[in-house]
Amino acid sequence: MKRMGSKQVLVPTVSCLLLLFCLGCKCLALELEATQTATLKVDASSQLARKIPDTLFGMFFEEINHAGAGGIWAELVSNRGFEAGGLHTPSNIDPWSIIGDDASIFVVTDRTSCFSRNIIALRMEVLCDECPAGGVGIYNPGFWGMNIEDGKSYNLVMYVKSAEAADLTVSLASSDGLQKLASVTVPVAGTSNWTKVEQKLIAKGTNRTSRLQITSNKKGVVWFDQVSLMPSDTFKGHGFRTELISMLLDLKPRFLRFPGGCFVEGEWLRNAFRWRESIGPWEERPGHFGDVWHYWTDDGLGYYEFLQLSEDLGAAPIWVFNNESATMMKLVPLPLPLL
Ligand SMILES: *[C@@H]1O[C@H](CO)[C@@H](O)[C@H](O)[C@H]1NC(C)=O
Ligand SMILES: *[C@@H]1O[C@H](CO)[C@@H](O)[C@H](O)[C@H]1NC(C)=O
Ligand SMILES: *[C@@H]1O[C@H](CO)[C@@H](O)[C@H](O)[C@H]1NC(C)=O
Repeated sequence: MKRMGSKQVLVPTVSCLLLLFCLGCKCLALELEATQTATLKVDASSQLARKIPDTLFGMFFEEINHAGAGGIWAELVSNRGFEAGGLHTPSNIDPWSIIGDDASIFVVTDRTSCFSRNIIALRMEVLCDECPAGGVGIYNPGFWGMNIEDGKSYNLVMYVKSAEAADLTVSLASSDGLQKLASVTVPVAGTSNWTKVEQKLIAKGTNRTSRLQITSNKKGVVWFDQVSLMPSDTFKGHGFRTELISMLLDLKPRFLRFPGGCFVEGEWLRNAFRWRESIGPWEERPGHFGDVWHYWTDDGLGYYEFLQLSEDLGAAPIWVFNNESATMMKLVPLPLPLL
């Protein structure tokens, strides 16, 4: 009992002494810090100086969070070729949607496109004899709505096919379809061939969350493919958004790294960015699903366009390509000591 007692006294005493010792050390350390001075000698003599290369500062661009498609690239239509679901039919046409209801319109994708590397097309069947005023059809809200501005002009390009002649109405409208900012009638001749339609639309109002609408009042079937809407005014006419590129110019980049890192790899190789498939006429590019950042790109912004951008920025191009390595390949189990 007595021994236990003395032990009980000893413990708090030792603790107190330790505490005092530590406090003492801390004070000593603070005093030392207060009196310490550091001297940094910089030898800037020309013998030792090293010139910073002009190309040290530049930009690392990555197609991530729509930095390219829906970002610096001015294309307003998202999933313009209806290819986002891959080769499957019916395919994923998101974010396209219908105007009208199931009783008045029926849309489905098939493989009837005139483009061999992106063969999915949209088949739109108008079912109504007496269609509602304004017609029925399809719309595309772009990337979070299209920024349509008063007085600006927009170039529409699309490929259509219809066995019978029909008049299509192409318009730029607010997200609820009520406010019409521009509207044109596009006559489609009845042939078994695909026809390229080019049309200019001039906005007579501004709405930042607009959509592109294609409607019809006539019963029948019309096919669509590669529907593109670009502002007429892009940076140097090269397809980039003027206001964003002027900000990039202000950064005075001396190099441009593109089109990304993980974006180039793909989680799986089959989804990697293939530069060869991103060149040539935009209508014929297959596009691809970037499975690392989880969205589809039509690849209208491709290898050539990035080189053009580098030139326009006065920046050296640093092109990242895939050497047949995908993210999943790196996820092999590591031996324990390495973990
Ligand atoms: C744009 O359209 C939306 C949806 O119809 C509407 O609520 C908004 O007021 C419009 N904005 C302008 C500036 O007209
Ligand atoms: C369809 O296209 C083919 C090949 O370009 C052409 O020979 C033919 O005349 C076209 N037919 C029509 C109806 O335009
Ligand atoms: C590709 O690059 C990775 C990372 O540097 C490397 O581990 C791999 O060996 C390269 N593959 C080929 C086929 O060169």
